[in-house]
Amino acid sequence: KTLSASGFHSPVRGKIDILDDVLIEIDVAGAIKAIHRYGDPNYRTIRDAREATGELVTLPNGSYLLPGFVDLHVHAPQYPQLGDALDVPLEAWLQKHTFPLEARYEDLVFARHVYGLLVDDLLANGTTTALYFATIHQQATRALVDICLERGQRALIGKVAMDNPQECPDYYRDASSDAALEGTRALIDYVRGHPDNGESRVLPVVTPRFIPSCTDATLEGLGAIARECGCHVQTHCSESDWEHGYVLTRHGMTDTESLDRFGLLRRGTVLAHANFLTAGDMETIKAREAAVAHCPLSNAYFANAVFPLRAALEKGLHVGLGTDISGGPSASMLENARGAILVSRMLQSGVDPNVPAESRSTFGPAQIDFRDAFHIATAGGGAALDLPVGQFTPGYQFDAIVIDTAHEKGTVRLFEDRDAGEGILQKIIYTASRPNIAATWVGGRSV
Ligand code: GUN
Ligand code: FE
Repeated sequence: KTLSASGFHSPVRGKIDILDDVLIEIDVAGAIKAIHRYGDPNYRTIRDAREATGELVTLPNGSYLLPGFVDLHVHAPQYPQLGDALDVPLEAWLQKHTFPLEARYEDLVFARHVYGLLVDDLLANGTTTALYFATIHQQATRALVDICLERGQRALIGKVAMDNPQECPDYYRDASSDAALEGTRALIDYVRGHPDNGESRVLPVVTPRFIPSCTDATLEGLGAIARECGCHVQTHCSESDWEHGYVLTRHGMTDTESLDRFGLLRRGTVLAHANFLTAGDMETIKAREAAVAHCPLSNAYFANAVFPLRAALEKGLHVGLGTDISGGPSASMLENARGAILVSRMLQSGVDPNVPAESRSTFGPAQIDFRDAFHIATAGGGAALDLPVGQFTPGYQFDAIVIDTAHEKGTVRLFEDRDAGEGILQKIIYTASRPNIAATWVGGRSV
């Protein structure tokens, strides 16, 4: 298939590459084979040839192609709670709201129902890759794998490991460290051996919930599994002052240092939140080539904090964007991209005019713009996962969305006599909504 389209992508942070009337050739495996720009010597020949064989698909005027969004932090079981209990502190929110909800996924019928609705909602919002926490349950987690494969979403899925009786309730906890490790191995085998997963569209993830919820034996065992199986890893890291303080007390070091000691900081590790990182933690994360999932909306509600995104990007850390459903109240990556810009502006300017500007962020200038927000929502997330997604580059998967800027129920307004170039993407990032998302492709397939 060959697509004739205009659009935008951001392979390099801070820069937007404008694709003006390009031809994108997609191979049978769903990867981008070649991109021909208007004006390239062979553009006309290729276009005429594809047109003659009926292989050419042309996007209508006013429609723009973007890479599909990479949501780097989703709690699939928390979807029924989206927009609920946002004024409760993290510790209480987990015990009173979240653990009781997650415990319900013992019920496979309930799990299938919720996971089906969630995956459909995320695809409709343009999320082509999602990194999911499931629950402690083997069967329900397998159901999420099945549903992602059925609907065609690219997904990385972890059975949550949480076995610390001090921090996890009796009704929702792995029975033992061995049970947590065995369950993790069993899910890895299930995903890798799945008959419909020949393209590895779904990948398994080693998923210690966070340090407080795991015993040291489990953290150590999961580090060994990640190494043996070469799996991705995801966990929460230095999210709130309570959680950060808990790890300092229990392990006498920061989350980052402790995770590193257990072998859990690797290429393909995604640390959610990371609000309370020290400068040394940032260096360690960079050295291990691990990544941060920036969750701006969730951080505002649960961490009372802003991740120093710009400092992390300038240091060269891998950073992607996450909704943190349901710590964040929106399944939309566009809304989270806008949230990332907004909170960066507040970190830059401060909210208290009496605090002098030079003492507002210890990490220096904080402000980002729509280019950085777009980058972390797409290519940044792909790089964090070390997967060929998030940009339109030969060899990368064709995971893409179409923004129809003319949709009457959409919220983008373009004016032909004034909007052009990057300005169009700026308006899309700031104003687009779900009705503007006209199509979603994963691996070259419409989903
Ligand atoms: N820390 C441990 N579990 C969770 C969770 O489910 N959500 C958030 N935001 N933080 C956590
Ligand atoms: Fe989370």
